[in-house]
Amino acid sequence: MRLKTLGVVLVTALSAFTLLYWLTDNPRRDEIAVAHEEELLEYGEVIFSADPAEPAAAGCATCHGPEGFGGEEDAAIIGPNLHTRSLAEKLKVNSNYVHLAVSYGGVVVSGNVNSAMPAWSYEVGGPLNEQQIEAVVALVTSWAEEAEQEPIEDVPNTEEAGAEVYTAAGCVACHGAELEGGAAGPNIQTIGSDVITEFENFPTPSGVDQMVADYEEDPRLFLEKWIRDSAANYNDGAPTGMPPHSEGAVSESALQALITFLLAQTGE
Ligand code: HEC
Ligand code: HEC
Repeated sequence: MRLKTLGVVLVTALSAFTLLYWLTDNPRRDEIAVAHEEELLEYGEVIFSADPAEPAAAGCATCHGPEGFGGEEDAAIIGPNLHTRSLAEKLKVNSNYVHLAVSYGGVVVSGNVNSAMPAWSYEVGGPLNEQQIEAVVALVTSWAEEAEQEPIEDVPNTEEAGAEVYTAAGCVACHGAELEGGAAGPNIQTIGSDVITEFENFPTPSGVDQMVADYEEDPRLFLEKWIRDSAANYNDGAPTGMPPHSEGAVSESALQALITFLLAQTGE
């Protein structure tokens, strides 16, 4: 009888110890987490691909390029590079941004309901379930985080380099490839003329007089302040529809090249 009791006590103690050991074995749990993350990214790669042999492939690669770098040379690749600092910055403002853009499509990116980027979520009739969306979102998020770690290169202050910044920083999504404007941003081909105060269909921010004065005095400085933070500098902090661009998204040298490009378009 005593022996039996001892046995029960021993077994209980042993299982309690094992449980405690499992629960507190952090390295092992970290290993499992890493393995899980790797699996998720691998699944994300399958979904991103356009591999006809993969039933789960969603074909993001057809528009964003096989590795998601977009395609400056290939006109068939119409989607933007997804390895960018600007994407990392958007994730800082809203950690759910990539999930929203993938689930509900390009309207989240540019406000354009006819955007070429489709909506993918089952919820809105798209082809991907939540688990698949999470995998591809994890992949794209990891790309943006990697891009943020890359050292910032000095951008030469030329029109050509500025044109590249215009695309890479995402201005193109709202203001169009030719600065002609679109659903989410006004035509900016004529900044510097009276158009500055007369954006058709777009609310004009309250600081218009200040904007005009600043522009006339120093167009470069005006554009710096406007692009960095139009709300803070010209609208008493209230949003203007033009998002801020911190140094994390557009470095100082990139901003200067961008402004050189913009001013060249307006003939200044
Ligand atoms: C038919 C072409 C096409 C396909 C397929 C496509 N995209 Fe896009 N994607 C675009 C375009 C174009 C944009 C820019 C949208 C805009 O500005 O309206 C975009 C934008 C994005 C953005 C926002 C980028 C940013 O910097 O804000 C993300 C993230 C994205 N796509 C991820 C994906 C993923 C993931 C898939 C696959 C599930 C996918 N895309 C499939 C064309 C496509
Ligand atoms: C999400 C859409 C969006 C993006 C991205 C965007 N803009 Fe804008 N932009 C707007 C809107 C909307 C306005 C008009 C704001 C207002 O008047 O309240 C505007 C106004 C402007 C103006 C006119 C300022 C003036 O009155 O003369 C310039 C120049 C401009 N944007 C440049 C840029 C550049 C350069 C980028 C990229 C770094 C960019 N925008 C990115 C939406 C956008």
